[in-house]
Amino acid sequence: MKSGYEAWLSYPLQPAAQRAGDLQWCKTLYVAEENDTIQAAAQEFRRGVASMLGIEVVAGSAGAAGPCVAIGTFQGGNTLVDQVFDEQTVRSVGPEGYAIRTSAAHHCIAIGAASPAGVLYGVFHLLRLIGTASGIEALDEAVNPVNKLRMINHWDNFDGSVERGYAGKSFFYNNNRFVDNLERIRDYAVLMSSVGINAIAINNVNVHEQETLFISPAYLPYVSRIADIFRVYGIRLFLSINFASPLQTGELDTADPLAPEVREWWRGKAAEIYEAIPDFGGFVVKADSENRPGPFTYGRDHADGANMLAEALEQFDGLVIWRCFVYNCKQDWRDRKTDRARAAYDHFKPLDGRFKDNVILQIKNGPMDFQVREPVSPLFGALQQTNHLIEFQIAQEYTGQQRHVCYLVPQWKEVMEFNTYAQGEHVPVKHVVDGSLWGNLHSGMAAVSNVGDDLNWTGHLLAQANLYGYGRLAWNPELSSEAIAEEWVRLTFGGDPAVLDTVTRILLDSWSIYESYTAPLGVGWMVNPDHHYGPNVDGYEYSPWGTYHFADNLGIGVDRTVRTGTGYSAQYIGKNVERYESLADCPDELLLFFHHVPYTHVLHSGSTVIQHIYDTHFEGAERAAELLTLWTRLNGKLEEALYTQVEERLKEQAEHAKEWRDKINTYFYRKSGIQDKQERTIY
Ligand code: GCU
Repeated sequence: MKSGYEAWLSYPLQPAAQRAGDLQWCKTLYVAEENDTIQAAAQEFRRGVASMLGIEVVAGSAGAAGPCVAIGTFQGGNTLVDQVFDEQTVRSVGPEGYAIRTSAAHHCIAIGAASPAGVLYGVFHLLRLIGTASGIEALDEAVNPVNKLRMINHWDNFDGSVERGYAGKSFFYNNNRFVDNLERIRDYAVLMSSVGINAIAINNVNVHEQETLFISPAYLPYVSRIADIFRVYGIRLFLSINFASPLQTGELDTADPLAPEVREWWRGKAAEIYEAIPDFGGFVVKADSENRPGPFTYGRDHADGANMLAEALEQFDGLVIWRCFVYNCKQDWRDRKTDRARAAYDHFKPLDGRFKDNVILQIKNGPMDFQVREPVSPLFGALQQTNHLIEFQIAQEYTGQQRHVCYLVPQWKEVMEFNTYAQGEHVPVKHVVDGSLWGNLHSGMAAVSNVGDDLNWTGHLLAQANLYGYGRLAWNPELSSEAIAEEWVRLTFGGDPAVLDTVTRILLDSWSIYESYTAPLGVGWMVNPDHHYGPNVDGYEYSPWGTYHFADNLGIGVDRTVRTGTGYSAQYIGKNVERYESLADCPDELLLFFHHVPYTHVLHSGSTVIQHIYDTHFEGAERAAELLTLWTRLNGKLEEALYTQVEERLKEQAEHAKEWRDKINTYFYRKSGIQDKQERTIY
């Protein structure tokens, strides 16, 4: 019985007509290298082909007659690979890319790459083509990942809990021990490499007491075992570290980044780590943020802090990934001048150009914190001389916590397509992020993981589409949300047209549905404090976290204009400043992020703010209920265990959407005293 554990590598049996075509190539596999990664690729090929085409793959060799699939690195000993690819093709393949070609002359489909990881990615490409019935008889492509770093951040704690985890416990740690069951970690590595992930940080950015010791001899052997698994799949392991480690371990009485003994301590630490893990990726650092220690304690800035660590790691090619999620979390709610949205830019823009080459700043996609809707962080486009990564959150902390369906790829696409005006008329975020705009040495994407030890990895089965989609998008930001959704559905459930139609429709509508019954018009939050699930309009209104909506009897929204507000809109470039500054031009969906307006303010849509709130919340709850109706059409078309998993979650969502609708509508009706034009029930 299927549980969802195989995820998009469940390799459903393909229709007979297609099988016949693909079979002739795939029944023989020619591999010439012993390398672990290439052997892993071969193993996955055999597994996938056996399951999708229903045959056992046999081993081929150079001179054997009949068609085959030939895989290997260029000049790695696979004579077919070397015969099929000309010099020009070989030159066009980057360190992690691959070339794939169906060659009638050589009777083979050849996959060639510069590195073993490239071979693995090429094999997954071929398996994906088979699984999506795309045809493999005329392949001819050289494929390179667009983003260099394609990273996953785990927020797993040593006690086995996962911060903002909605899919069970950690599968790395349990009760302050590293788990013994490495099989699941291996399966996870396979899943991640199949979508091109090449870097994983295995512990929470909030590094507590025990995790501080992960970089000590007591724990390094365990970390190293995990790195060994990931390495086979082309993934480098990173650790989140505690900036105050030298102090916290009691070895020094300071963590001042400019103190010679501190620098020496970290250099020694780096040597120890690389002794245990020669290809260790580096450190992820959350410093001076939400009560984590950092350089501010010593009157130093973030460049001082990051560069000190970078200096320790540079001789080993290690990276320091330094997060920009730095803001005052002890704000006075009465103070309307301080604006959390400004914080990342205010802290990091002045430091542009001061970071060492192996430092990468990691910037959340928006200025606040992974809300269902917020503008794009103005740091994208503003940092011209600093390596940086964009950070997304696959975990659905503010988007339904994997109890509601919310396919986030369309949101991420929107961010990536956002025009920064950084240098000329059209400079989308994706070109900042992929490093092509400023020619950064390091760049790419990172995202907070949504997996745990739930059998289906992500709790909500449909949340797997976000994990899959993140990897695919990091590899190639040009892929559309629709194409990614369709791929995921086919690979997970097979190609039944009714299933394909229904599930992709559910996915593609889900973000807009979630947005419509939660916080309106970009204002954010309105969730229960701490756990962040469920509606609570004033949950954060009188708190120190800097996340307010300022609703009163007359109006709502945060004035972030230069003219009368916090001045945040000036952090953008060119036309974006004018667009956000102007009440007339500000897009509806971000209106309350940038402006405080009366409930009677008329939107571009023609509706007033208050009527918009009522309408979207009534519609949103209805649309959430429709998701369930749509899904029930698939009863009998899917394996029952998969069907019921999703059905249960959609039932909860439909109920919970009503709770959201009624709390939000009632709150604003009571505040404003304005009736719903359609006289629907408001309490
Ligand atoms: C959010 C989240 C925290 C997390 C933080 C971060 O605020 O709620 O749990 O630690 O982001 O990104 O560091």
